[in-house]
Amino acid sequence: MALNPWAKNPWFETVTEAQRRAKKRLPKSVYSSLVAGTQAGVTLDDNVKAFSELTWAPHVVGAQAEREMATSVMGQDISFPVMISPTGVQAVDPDGEVAVARAAAARGTAMGLSSFASHPVEEVTAVNDKIFFQIYWLGSRDDILMRAERAKAAGAKGLIVTTDWVFNVGRDWGSPEIPEKVNLKALVRLGPEIAVKPRYALDWVKGGKVTIPDLTAPNLTPQGVPGPTFFGAYGEWMNTPPPTWEDLKWLREQWDGPFMVKGITRLDDAKRAVDIGATAISVSNHGGNNLDGTPATIRLLPDIAKAVGNDLEVLLDGGIRRGSDVAKALALGAKAVMIGRAYLWGLAANGQAGVENVLDLMRMGLDGVLMGLGQKSIHDLSPEDLLIPDGFTRAFGTD
Ligand SMILES: Cc1cc2nc3c(=O)[nH]c(=O)nc-3n(C[C@H](O)[C@H](O)[C@H](O)COP(=O)(O)O)c2cc1C
Repeated sequence: MALNPWAKNPWFETVTEAQRRAKKRLPKSVYSSLVAGTQAGVTLDDNVKAFSELTWAPHVVGAQAEREMATSVMGQDISFPVMISPTGVQAVDPDGEVAVARAAAARGTAMGLSSFASHPVEEVTAVNDKIFFQIYWLGSRDDILMRAERAKAAGAKGLIVTTDWVFNVGRDWGSPEIPEKVNLKALVRLGPEIAVKPRYALDWVKGGKVTIPDLTAPNLTPQGVPGPTFFGAYGEWMNTPPPTWEDLKWLREQWDGPFMVKGITRLDDAKRAVDIGATAISVSNHGGNNLDGTPATIRLLPDIAKAVGNDLEVLLDGGIRRGSDVAKALALGAKAVMIGRAYLWGLAANGQAGVENVLDLMRMGLDGVLMGLGQKSIHDLSPEDLLIPDGFTRAFGTD
C-alpha cells in the first residue's frame, strides 16, 4: 500500500499542483515551452504577482445561499466567466485542443482555438459549439480570409485577432528547442528527455500504435490540404508586414459575426478597437510572452474598462491562476477572463479531466469569493469589494 493514500488521486486542488504535475510528466522542452516568458520575465511575473496586491475584507455573516455565475461572451452563453484562451498546444497531449474543447463544453464554456493549433478546426467545433477561431496576421489578405471562412464553415462563432507579437522573444533562461519535424534525428536528440518521462511517452501509444506529435499548423491551409510546419508558418508570419488598423477594419468588415481584438494594453488602442466595430477586446500581453516590461494586465484593466466598457465587451487574460483572480478581474471591470497556462498544465497533468479540474477550481474559487463578500452574483462585483493600493493601476495612451 502506498504510504500516502492521496498520492494517486488524479484530482488536484490548486493550479500550482497542476503545474507541479505537468513538470513531472512532460519532457523538459515541452514543459519549458509552457512556462516561457520573454526576456527577463518581468511581465510574466507581474501578471501573477499583481493579483496578490489586491485584497478583500470578507463578511463572516450574511452570505448568499445561492450565487450566480452565468454570463455571455461574444453572443455565447457561458456557465461562468472563464473561457479558454487560444494557445498553440503542440505536444502537451495527443488529443490537444480536442480534449480542451471537450472539457470546456463539459463545463459549459467557450474556447479560443489558436491558428497554430495542432488539430483541425472541424474536429474541435465537432465537440464544442462555442469556438472562436484565433487569427494571426500571416500571409496575404486572401490567405487570412480563407482561414476565417474555413473556420466559419466549421461552425466557429467568432473571430479573435491577436496582434501583439514582436518576434524578439529572447529568454534569459533559454528558449525551448522545438524540432522542425519529429523525425528520427529529433527523436534521437529528444530521446533522453523522453526516456525519463515514461508516462508521457505512453500517452502517445494507443491501441499498440505510436502517434508522432504533429508539429504542423493544419488550420492555415484549406481543409484537407496539409498545413505548413510550425517553423514554416512562423517564418511566413515574420515575413508578413504587421497589420495596420486599416487591415483590422477590413477583416472586421469581411466577418459578419463577433470579433475580438486580443492584446490591447493602451486606452487609445482600446478606442480604435471600438472604432473598427470590434465586439470585444482582451486586455492581454500574451501571458508575458510579448514585449517584456509591459505591466500586468490587471493593472491596465480598470482604466480601459472605464473608457470602453460600455462600447464593447472587455475581457482580460494573463496571470489568472485562481478563482479569486477571476473575481478581482470582474470587480475591476472585465466581463470575463481567459486562461492560458492554467489549463495547459491541467491538460498535461490529467488530459481532458485535468482541464475540467482547472475549470472547476476557477468556478469554486470564484464562488468562494462571492460567498465571502456576501454577493449574490458576479454582476454585483465592483471595485468597492477590493482594497486597491495607491499606484496600483497603470494607463497608457490617455488623451
Ligand atoms: C504555450 C503558449 C502558447 C500560446 N499560443 C497562443 C496562440 O497561438 N495565440 C494567441 O492568441 N495566444 C497564445 N498564447 C497566449 C494566451 O492566449 C494567453 O494570452 C496567455 O497565455 C494568458 O496568460 P496566462 O498563461 O498567464 O493565463 C499562448 C500562451 C502560451 C503560454
